[in-house]
Amino acid sequence: MDELDTLVQQAQADFAAARQAAELENAKARYLGKSGALTERLKALGALPPEQKKALGAEINAAKARVEAALQARRDQLAAAELERQLQAEALDVSLPGRRRGQGGLHPVSRTIERIEAIFGSMGFDVAEGPEIETDWMSFTALNNPENHPARSMQDTFYVDLKDAEGRWLNLRPHTSPMQVRYARAHAARHAQAIAQGLPIPEIRVIAPGRTYRVDSDATHSPMFHQCEGLWMGENVSFKDLKVVFSDFIRRFFETDEFDLRFRPSYFPFTEPSAEIDIAFRSGPLAGRWLEVAGSGQVHPNVVRHYGLDPERHIGFAFGMGPDRLAMLRYGIDDLRLMFDGDLRFLQQFN
Ligand code: PHE
Repeated sequence: MDELDTLVQQAQADFAAARQAAELENAKARYLGKSGALTERLKALGALPPEQKKALGAEINAAKARVEAALQARRDQLAAAELERQLQAEALDVSLPGRRRGQGGLHPVSRTIERIEAIFGSMGFDVAEGPEIETDWMSFTALNNPENHPARSMQDTFYVDLKDAEGRWLNLRPHTSPMQVRYARAHAARHAQAIAQGLPIPEIRVIAPGRTYRVDSDATHSPMFHQCEGLWMGENVSFKDLKVVFSDFIRRFFETDEFDLRFRPSYFPFTEPSAEIDIAFRSGPLAGRWLEVAGSGQVHPNVVRHYGLDPERHIGFAFGMGPDRLAMLRYGIDDLRLMFDGDLRFLQQFN
């Protein structure tokens, strides 16, 4: 029947026009709902005589089956489209570049310490590390700095309210000089043996970089800073040897011959005589200014005794320099605090 065909085509067109499931269900109601066009026609069959009822009923049911098939087909289409949309929305674009992990780098002070170790290492110096929480005895007493001596207050030490197993007070080491004592004591037995066997006494050549602490904070001082101790003991090591080694270090560290180096008399309880080591560049932004780069001196006999060595047989030099200061000079940094703020904009410049 033409009329039913038209109805089916209309339903197919309506379903095809529905863009969403809800629209589609509304369109379905117009044909198959309680008062939908096909439902109404089926209801109207009741009034017809049996012969007509049967024939028309079959036609209407056939039309209804086509409409239902069209409805289901469109439902499937919409569901597939929705799934596709979701997949698109959540899709991974495998051609996008991946997120890189931030690449770490060395802190300028670490770089500086590595340079110091490499340069002194090439001159036969061992590298040693020691504790940052140190005994009062190592920090001061062993270094000829007796209890209650006013020279102890040269350093504003952080004391720790604790004693070690032997009852010695602890502090955050105010310098790396205790490492002279720790290292020399660790090697004293070997030296005693050499002497007993009439062999030449082995030299001690060591540097000991690390963190140090003092109650001090401004543009050129930080409560935590770095030092690098140096110790060179032998049978006859002199200031001249120290000057040669230290000049060589400066030349290689700053990659220039254009500097002067001088010893300036000073005082440390653990060395006698003592000297500050100053350098002055002959060119560049700091040309002509004397810059203090290290403390140094011939190790005091009392300290040599605390090494467990005989001051009559073992003579040598100690020096202590500041890697932070050396890094600032090398990289042209004017505020020490920048080193320890952890600001990536600063730190990234060195990597
Ligand atoms: N320990 C001294 C300081 O902190 C430096 C120094 C080391 C001086 C070794 C002489 C010898 O200032």
